[in-house]
Amino acid sequence: MKRFVTFEGIDGSGKSTISKLVSERLRSAGHDTIWTYEPTDSTIGKFVQECIRSQTDPFITSFTFIADRIQHCKHIQQWLDNGKIVLCDRYAESTYAYQAAQLESELEDPLKWLRELSEGRILLPDRTFLFVIEPKIALARIQHRTELIPFERVAFLEKVHKNYLKISKGKRFLKLDATQSIDQLVQLCYDDIVQETKKK
Ligand code: TMP
Repeated sequence: MKRFVTFEGIDGSGKSTISKLVSERLRSAGHDTIWTYEPTDSTIGKFVQECIRSQTDPFITSFTFIADRIQHCKHIQQWLDNGKIVLCDRYAESTYAYQAAQLESELEDPLKWLRELSEGRILLPDRTFLFVIEPKIALARIQHRTELIPFERVAFLEKVHKNYLKISKGKRFLKLDATQSIDQLVQLCYDDIVQETKKK
């Protein structure tokens, strides 16, 4: 069974809705499940949210997202040690996709820099779902939100989208077509998480 699972995608990709429904489904099936998210509600997480709103220097934003994650991992490790399944709405790939887009004119290889800051300090998920959707479609889905944050602009999200596709390679990643129905997506994620239990 996959124990630490992360949900990634651009704003409006639907990953929050789906990850919450998957967590409810796991709980109903008797699995002790925690649903969590980043940026967190901790003091550092609140500072991160302020960095986004006020368009703070991208280096400061990057450091604080990573600091929030390092702190978050201490809780995630405890939950895993206590036998829980942990579903996390956004995690390291959000930093690699969004902050690499922010830093592309500042550094030659922002992804390498961001990875070096993180690796060895954060936990590796068993599975990362990437919700793939065209930025224009995703943005149309969230137009009703009263206050769109600076990251929710099409040109920026195009870069983030490309970064996500570039970094989501390897066995840990499962790319999902985010335009499928909610029921289909929940089923796909649920089946994938519980799959290995059945095989054992
Ligand atoms: P949310 O809408 O999922 O709560 O995330 C808030 C914004 O923060 C969203 O536009 C993505 C962005 N973000 C980053 O830029 N880097 C990160 O590491 C994380 C976790 C989120």
